[in-house]
Amino acid sequence: MSKKITFDYWKHLYAHRTGNMYSSEIRDLLALSARPDIISFAGGNPDVKSLDYHKLEKYVKRALLVDGDISLQYGSSEGYYPFKTKLVEVMKLEGIEADEEDIIVTTGGQQALDLIAKIFININDYIIVESPSYAGALNSFKSYEPNIIDIPIDKNGIRLKELEKKLEELKNKDIQVKFIYLVPNFSNPSGVTLSLPRRKKILEMAKKYNTLIIEDNPYGMLRYEGQPVPTIKELDSKNGSKHVLYMSTLSKLLAPGFRIGWIVAPHLIIEKLTLGVQAADLCTSSFSQRIAFEYFSDPAWKDNIKNFIKIYSSRRDTMLKSLEEYFPEGSSWSKPKGGFFIWLKLPEFLNSKEILADAIRNKVAYVPGSGFYASNNGYNEARLAFCSESPKDIEKGIKILANIIKDKIKLYKSFK
Ligand SMILES: Cc1ncc(COP(=O)(O)O)c(C=O)c1O
Repeated sequence: MSKKITFDYWKHLYAHRTGNMYSSEIRDLLALSARPDIISFAGGNPDVKSLDYHKLEKYVKRALLVDGDISLQYGSSEGYYPFKTKLVEVMKLEGIEADEEDIIVTTGGQQALDLIAKIFININDYIIVESPSYAGALNSFKSYEPNIIDIPIDKNGIRLKELEKKLEELKNKDIQVKFIYLVPNFSNPSGVTLSLPRRKKILEMAKKYNTLIIEDNPYGMLRYEGQPVPTIKELDSKNGSKHVLYMSTLSKLLAPGFRIGWIVAPHLIIEKLTLGVQAADLCTSSFSQRIAFEYFSDPAWKDNIKNFIKIYSSRRDTMLKSLEEYFPEGSSWSKPKGGFFIWLKLPEFLNSKEILADAIRNKVAYVPGSGFYASNNGYNEARLAFCSESPKDIEKGIKILANIIKDKIKLYKSFK
């Protein structure tokens, strides 16, 4: 094994932007949480074990034996057209009307975020995010060196008064906000859903201040209770305006291993994004897109979503029940109606990063809150993913965490 070099000889050669690129706390933890002896509430990993592998094998075989010359070849930078036709049908189920020409297929939602950042953000530009926000998005955006304004959320999503105040303040300084980034359904990390009246108001604001909304919607189809709320994209199209860039991913509807995401945008923006794909990786995997085309061609994909919903909703219920049963007073948490995540707030004198060390020693992992903030917040908060452990392990893990936290509270009180 080669010896690990600890002195960075190449520091003088790195681009300035690397100073804004931090190792995501999620990625670091994923390494740990992959250990089989750890109960992991860390990564937003879908339960791929519940997929029907024999069906998947059929799709893979067809991709090779029927269309090997397409699956194994370079593809169009905009994406495999028949797959985009399937995406048009899939998005219709969430009320979104789109043409194939308005879609670009990307290497996961993560590349979609990076491409959007690449074509819109100059150094020192202003963008707005909800706070807390998806850490992967913050990491992508930060490497293009913008000023990130974070606006707090409450149980109905991003707070409008603060948002409008900020937009007005920036307008008065002649500053153009490039975009507002939102995960409106069962947000990563908070689990919160943006209410319909707020969706409408934010759209009005985007028009008034002539900016874009990036609507990131990986979890919309994974609803466990209540009625779906129209996407901001749907509201935007109904008004005949073009203020929303909509994006989603196959990672939570099938599996992240395929690395497929997509963006719906006005065609001129798609042209710019296509240049971005050409520079980044020429095209998204033809093989993955061809298999994904088979997946959506089989009506059974909807049963698959129903099965995911059944599995995840019971895990969510177990986590909420266990939090209620074991967690000490002074802690609070979100109650998501879908998606993968519960957002935990601990008493203010506790630090979730410090507690994590104890948790890992006791074989439980989660993600501390600070990685989900552009500013220095979230030290007493944490993201708990309920999607990838069994109900039995969820209860066990929450009990362990609760005991660690109770001990910390006791210790704190003994010093007071
Ligand atoms: C809100 C959000 N956007 C984008 C992504 C990136 O997804 P992927 O790159 O797997 O498609 C994730 C993954 O967890 C996410 O939660």
